[in-house]
Amino acid sequence: MRVVRTTDYNDMSRKAANVISAQTILKPDTVLGLATGSTPIGTYRQLIDWYKKGDIDFSQVSTYNLDEYRGLAPEDPNSYHYFMRTNLFDHVNIDLANTHVPDGLAADPEAYCASYDAMVRDAGYPDLQLLGIGRNGHIGFNEPDDAFSKGTHLVDLTESTIEANSRLFDSVDDVPRQAFSMGVQTIMYAHTILLIASGEEKAEAVRDAILGPVTPHCPASILQLHANCILIADAAALSLC
Ligand code: GLP
Repeated sequence: MRVVRTTDYNDMSRKAANVISAQTILKPDTVLGLATGSTPIGTYRQLIDWYKKGDIDFSQVSTYNLDEYRGLAPEDPNSYHYFMRTNLFDHVNIDLANTHVPDGLAADPEAYCASYDAMVRDAGYPDLQLLGIGRNGHIGFNEPDDAFSKGTHLVDLTESTIEANSRLFDSVDDVPRQAFSMGVQTIMYAHTILLIASGEEKAEAVRDAILGPVTPHCPASILQLHANCILIADAAALSLC
């Protein structure tokens, strides 16, 4: 894993956006794996800014998102569909037909997960997968467990994730208890992985992910085995390394 230390969140965001921008310049029809959460917002803002200046073209780019809350419709302001529209897609020249976020309302979860996996596979897997990290080391919504997950699946969220994500909802009771998430195996098929982390509250997860044993109890630790994984993290997130 290549580790890039940045001074702060803005520096992390710019550097991550630089990597994504370079990828789209070198391969205009890039397949991007995208993430939600607070961490990538600055990266998306930077990409929008460079798009407006004419430096990035998303017209041939396609995207596959990692996860979505179960039970939330795309137009729900707490859904990851809505997040992606408002934080990136609505501000750049991406063709919405080429953007994919798991369907939180899928009636037959098992069949739906298989079809999402087939779609990601048929796209050749992401050239570049952007990832955040949860405070407990989760990636996507792959929570600590006794085994690594494989394909897209329905997840029971842990109390720690529900609590961490409740800041974005009116109350903790409004946070869905389940989510669809790409599996760890699918994430590992990405050609390059770009993990970003900022802030002291991520320091333990980052330490365990990059220096600890490879274990499903810290799902992000599997990234140590990826041939082309880049971690861009600020000094606070790297403070225990
Ligand atoms: C959520 C998302 C993850 C994200 C994580 C960290 O649970 N499903 O994809 O990486 O939280 O979020 P944040 O960047 O807000 O700390």
